Amino acid sequence: MFTLAGWTALLAGLTIRALAQDYSTSPPLYPSPPTQGTGWEAAFAQAEAFVSNLTLEEKAQLVTGTSGPCVGNIGAVPRLGFDGLCLQDGPLAIRQATYASVFPAGLTTAASWDRSLMYLRGLYMGGEFKGKGSHVALGPVVGPLGRAAYGGRNWEGFSPDPYLTGVAAEQTITGMQQSGIQACLKHYIGYEQESQRNPSLSADNVTIEAVSSNIDDRTIHELYLWPFANGVRAGVASIMCSYNRLNGSYACQNSKTQNGLLKGELGFQGWIVSDWGGTHAGVASINAGLDMDMPGPLSYSGDQNSSFFGGNVTQAVNNGSVAETRVDDMVRRIMTPYFYLQQNQYPPIDGEEPALNSNFPPYDYQFTLGAANVEVRDGHAQLIRELGSAGTVLLKNVNNTLPLSAPQTLGVFGNDAGDVVDGLYFSGSAFQNQYGYEYGNLPVAGGSGTGRMSYLVSPLEAIKSRATQDGTLVQYILNNTLISSAGGLSSILPVPQICLVFLKTWASEGYDRIGLEPDWNSTGVVNSVASHCNNTIVITNSAGLNVMPWATHPNVTAILAAHLPGQESGNSIVDVLYGTVNPSGKLPYTIALNASDYNFAPITNSTTLVETEDPNSWQSNFTEGLLIDYRHFDYYNQSVAFEFGFGLSYTTFDMSGIQIQSHAGNGNGSVGALPPSNPIVPGGNPSLWEVLFTVSVTVTNTGGLAGAAVPQVYLSLPQIRGEDPTPLNVLRGFDKIMLQPGESQSVKFDLMRRDLSYWNTMTQQWMIPSGPIGVNAGFSSRDFRQKTQLTVVT
Ligand code: NOJ
Repeated sequence: MFTLAGWTALLAGLTIRALAQDYSTSPPLYPSPPTQGTGWEAAFAQAEAFVSNLTLEEKAQLVTGTSGPCVGNIGAVPRLGFDGLCLQDGPLAIRQATYASVFPAGLTTAASWDRSLMYLRGLYMGGEFKGKGSHVALGPVVGPLGRAAYGGRNWEGFSPDPYLTGVAAEQTITGMQQSGIQACLKHYIGYEQESQRNPSLSADNVTIEAVSSNIDDRTIHELYLWPFANGVRAGVASIMCSYNRLNGSYACQNSKTQNGLLKGELGFQGWIVSDWGGTHAGVASINAGLDMDMPGPLSYSGDQNSSFFGGNVTQAVNNGSVAETRVDDMVRRIMTPYFYLQQNQYPPIDGEEPALNSNFPPYDYQFTLGAANVEVRDGHAQLIRELGSAGTVLLKNVNNTLPLSAPQTLGVFGNDAGDVVDGLYFSGSAFQNQYGYEYGNLPVAGGSGTGRMSYLVSPLEAIKSRATQDGTLVQYILNNTLISSAGGLSSILPVPQICLVFLKTWASEGYDRIGLEPDWNSTGVVNSVASHCNNTIVITNSAGLNVMPWATHPNVTAILAAHLPGQESGNSIVDVLYGTVNPSGKLPYTIALNASDYNFAPITNSTTLVETEDPNSWQSNFTEGLLIDYRHFDYYNQSVAFEFGFGLSYTTFDMSGIQIQSHAGNGNGSVGALPPSNPIVPGGNPSLWEVLFTVSVTVTNTGGLAGAAVPQVYLSLPQIRGEDPTPLNVLRGFDKIMLQPGESQSVKFDLMRRDLSYWNTMTQQWMIPSGPIGVNAGFSSRDFRQKTQLTVVT
């Protein structure tokens, strides 16, 4: 029998279901849930005391960015001993700083499938932000998730699979915050393309609104919100709302997503900050849950006092459009993680930052600066090198071409192999385009997600230095035009035993990719080298996935997807080429046969509408629902070149003995509906995170070399009647284990209630579906070695 609450939920569900068909609606959800400081109780009390001493003007200052030395700045309140906040990009480095490390990108990190490396990367990066006096790191990225293969920023995040991305985010945040900095998980939510991410002006000065990502209720829960839930559960301090509109309403003033999903359903206790310039109103955003406006002023160079926040916050409180209790909540949300991480005792901002930060005009000094050019790299190069190798995926290796063993001659080809010639920092307008620079290795990509390198080890440099050990003759041509021209390789004599071709794929914030093959006539380059050299090995450095038309070329004997390895690029790749490291990276996405195979999730690119004044232009309907990446290819039974989760090793593995243990009281016999919970804790209803089953398998190294295996567990949930398609298999567990030749190890995967549930749009709750749930364990999304099933609800 339904209670009143049950009926209300059902009615709400019905409304949302009806609206889901119409995609572009965002139901209002007010008021904004205040933080209780759950999990941060002592710090919350400190924040409360702090807020009670502030004037209204000071409160407004605390929630509004100002010009200063960092990418984002909150001004000091000296009379209360508060020195202000320094927010810096980005997800793979403290972006603009000197003497800092440039780590492998999120994409590379995901390809490692290695929780401990994910965690250490976060920890070390966090240490560097702190050493530079930066309180908040604007990362990690879980949106874009990677719906569209052409997305320009997918590489900043981890993987189009929400489970893998969720784990990577959780590990990164935990590491970062353990170092004492606040992480800022971004961009929330539905930010899946660069094209028209921001509003623009038509020729006659009419605003054309930003693209609206129109996402149905189930898809938002099971895909795009999923990794944010992991982040909130990991205790992330802050979350950045995105530029795009979500179901018609700007993400930073969307009450459904901010008040409803994030602060309500997920119980987020920290603060929401706007992406820079992503605020489009004051009162509407504040009441819809936005806690901090960045950069504050409406323009960097214009009047530094004009803002949607700032003085308008004071005015809105005074005229009653915003309750002062809401402003108090905003400040408490900002100050609680600050006290929790003891940021009231903190290193000063590096004295070089003002010179590095070209955004703002000169400003009145209210920030305490320390010494300039502080060294923070602290031996992190070792981890960077290791993670760069761990995130490199061996896709093809005919006749054990790799690892190399003392070749007499090596050829090195391609404009990605050598040192960079356009500088070590890929930010700024010269690097914000679709093409990138022609000459030089691609260790990271462009835009705010890049990092200023203090050095780069190029592949050619690392190869030359390794080759001297064996007396190998190394010949090279780095000019792609020459390589692909008739007779272009005639100077290469003798013909090398092995030819290494280095390809790259640029991407940058602000632009979507224009193709999915690597850049600079890559296919011409591979075909030319392969017709010359019957042992051609292709290595790609790429900001996203690549299609590889040459993958089946008989002379292409090995392929390595090296992604974006960071500053130790060449060393990371050489370690794999020579077998110092046995490759263990796995694809965190699918490589399809053709670029057109990805057209199911297109970038909405209404270039023909650019002159329009129609506010309904730029609608991106996520009609594919849950079926992105491997979920699409599996559902439609489509062949691919290399599937999600795939990657070779120099050894071989097998799997046996799948078993399922049900946890008494939680597992079999329990009902599908989520037990009610009061209160909601960070991460949402705690029952979602309860372990119901543990799957175990035994993995054996059946080859002759030590190596790391990545066993993976995929669940096959039943189709839900009357709902859009459920993916055939979804990743719900993975581990990385090192095994000696002949060694076996038992591996356990905990399945939480969330892992077994789908989002029921009617009841507005997670629910375990009735019927058997398939449990498949193997070494990729298409290589299942062990299968069984479990049933929770009969
Ligand atoms: C805009 C980008 O979208 C965001 O990721 C970045 O943190 C800010 N700019 C600040 O640079």
